[in-house]
Amino acid sequence: MNNAVTGFSKLSKEEKINWIAKEYFSTPTEAIKLLKNYWNTDEKIQKLHDEFIENTITNFYIPLGVAPNFLINGKYSTIPMAIEESSVVAAASKSAKFWSTRGGFKATVINTEKIGQVHFLFNGDPSKLALFFVEMKQKFFTDTESITKNMQKRGGGILDITLEDKTNLLPNYYQLHATFETKDSMGANFINSCLEQFAKTLKEEALSYALFSETEREIQVIMSILSNYVPNCVVRAEVSCPVADLQEKHIENPLEFAQRFVQAVQIAEVEPFRAVTHNKGIMNGIDAVVLATGNDFRAVEAGIHAYAAKSGTYTSLSHAKIENDIFTFWLEIPLALGTVGGLTSLHPLVKLSLEMLENPSARELMQFVAVAGLAQNFAALRSLTTTGIQDGHMKMHLNNILNQFDATDSERIAIRNHFKSQAVSHSAVVDLIEKLREKAI
Ligand code: MEV
Repeated sequence: MNNAVTGFSKLSKEEKINWIAKEYFSTPTEAIKLLKNYWNTDEKIQKLHDEFIENTITNFYIPLGVAPNFLINGKYSTIPMAIEESSVVAAASKSAKFWSTRGGFKATVINTEKIGQVHFLFNGDPSKLALFFVEMKQKFFTDTESITKNMQKRGGGILDITLEDKTNLLPNYYQLHATFETKDSMGANFINSCLEQFAKTLKEEALSYALFSETEREIQVIMSILSNYVPNCVVRAEVSCPVADLQEKHIENPLEFAQRFVQAVQIAEVEPFRAVTHNKGIMNGIDAVVLATGNDFRAVEAGIHAYAAKSGTYTSLSHAKIENDIFTFWLEIPLALGTVGGLTSLHPLVKLSLEMLENPSARELMQFVAVAGLAQNFAALRSLTTTGIQDGHMKMHLNNILNQFDATDSERIAIRNHFKSQAVSHSAVVDLIEKLREKAI
């Protein structure tokens, strides 16, 4: 039977592990051994990781891979990707290589505005609140000067604050809707600190505003928080080439391929069930780079999916067309990223990943991430509309089976040759290994 525990967070790491091992595992010593096997031998590194979160008992590995040959705006880069799913890094690399001989990727940051809101209740005359806001607006800026000083030096700060009447949605509900420029930082702490100060100013100033009645003075702040939906912090990535240049292995008829490809994108544009999977493929690339560079992939995911649904129907993030014999494929996504602050200078592998990208600005990182998403989407659609996705997946799977059976080099050659023309299945591979081994006896 499992018991509740009190004061767990106060226990030492060893004590936490011992409690868990005893409580949940039939072989506690084995569980403890496994957890400790994943501790870093360098105590300093382990302590760093222990302190990223609370109640850490061990590390959970995700492979860090690299996808080379990304030609972006005329410059080659190797993109670091942290992801557990096989085929993703291979697909990114394949796309990068493919487009490197067809003009490469073009990426452009469209805008970089972040958003935060103070949600509050005001019970009274909306026109008096509007007047109060106009008279107070400057005070919101002056009261946050100590917070914004450094950000302003870096060229950022508060862009604007507006009062939003949301009483058509909820009784007495209003917002201070603020926009920010946070330069190379993701800006969560900066934005939330500004918002909490706005809330304080709002409440305090309302208390002594002469035009307000007693009830109107009692503004109730419900919460102050940044929004992870950033529809004005958007980057675009694109590839294009003459249709005839698409010719390659598996693309014997480039026009037919381009047409099927465009059709596949159009299906994702009109059909939400497909759009979700289509966008999931894009997120394979996006999340992997976001994670490798120490950014918040949950925030990125939430914001991107909201953007995909901004028309009211969930749709494709990418688009494709053929015009004047030119094939163009592009996506536009909102991305609030940082290359300073947060984990960026703390996690040694994040630092390494950023260095591999030549220490990009946040704007440059937005471009890398969007390109990785587009590359991933291209690879998935290319497979889906030509060989089918299982062809590549089963080749990776074949590798896993060969490893599982400790296949020798000669067995690997024979088996790979055999499956060049045969469908890979677990049982077919195992049968062949067994046959080869029987013959060898
Ligand atoms: C698998 O991780 C991603 C795909 O399903 C994406 C897609 O269907 O476009 C292959």
